Amino acid sequence: MSALPPDGAAPPDLVRLLIVGDVVGSPGRRAARRLLPELRREVGADLVVVNAENSHEGRGISLRAARELRDAGADALTGGNHVWDHPEIDQALADDDLRIVRPLNLPPEMPGEGALTLRVRGHAITVVNLLGRVFMGPADDPFRAIDALLADLPRDVPRPLVVVDFHAEATSEKQAMGWHLAGRVAAVVGTHTHVPTADARVLPGDTGYVTDLGMVGPRDSIIGTAVEPALRRFLSARPGRMSVADGPVVFNAVVVDLDPARGGCRAIYRVDRLDPNDAASGRMHR
Ligand SMILES: [Fe+2]
Ligand SMILES: [Fe+2]
Repeated sequence: MSALPPDGAAPPDLVRLLIVGDVVGSPGRRAARRLLPELRREVGADLVVVNAENSHEGRGISLRAARELRDAGADALTGGNHVWDHPEIDQALADDDLRIVRPLNLPPEMPGEGALTLRVRGHAITVVNLLGRVFMGPADDPFRAIDALLADLPRDVPRPLVVVDFHAEATSEKQAMGWHLAGRVAAVVGTHTHVPTADARVLPGDTGYVTDLGMVGPRDSIIGTAVEPALRRFLSARPGRMSVADGPVVFNAVVVDLDPARGGCRAIYRVDRLDPNDAASGRMHR
């Protein structure tokens, strides 16, 4: 199961989510503004979730970046390891209208919330952000954190519709989370590596899964960063200043069809586009 079938819209009994990978800096935000409204209409998405952890110049979430993504059509924004990098994040998390979900598995005194429930066509959908711990900075155990959250949700039949953005480096940790939550949540989508994976599928128990969404960021880059300074760091082993690349922008996302009657995922499709128009340089790229 990979590309969206050409016939488009979801069956009327399903709720369709569009979940978008890490938006990188102003090139990513410009591409989101250009592509997201039309894509949302094209696929008939009922809810759009966008990972925003790199939306301010590649690091963190500013008020302006969050507002731009909300205005482009994101219903909720998720975070990651870079969520604290911009000084406006506390203000942004306190603004309920920006709907930013920061990682759940952090010390309880941290500002913001790790889960957000939105009502979509009469159905409650809970968006959760989790941080991995393999090759990442310190965080609480994401497996125990999601277990605790699920234990607190009503034990309804059908089960509550929960979508997890698991922000992690290691594919093994992400697959482990997929299997840990198979049959218990509606979908587990990976973020953070900025490279899309070709493994979108529905796990046993009707849980949609993909190891990494990818990004909305410059294609000719090293995970969104300008090639030259990033490459120099590897060649010289000397830390240096990094910047967001420019040029054509990849737009990586998935569409997830949820079945409210059964409480799970019916289908997951990759949606990958290229935005060739780089407004910063005014050039069209191929
Ligand atoms: Fe990222
Ligand atoms: Fe990240």
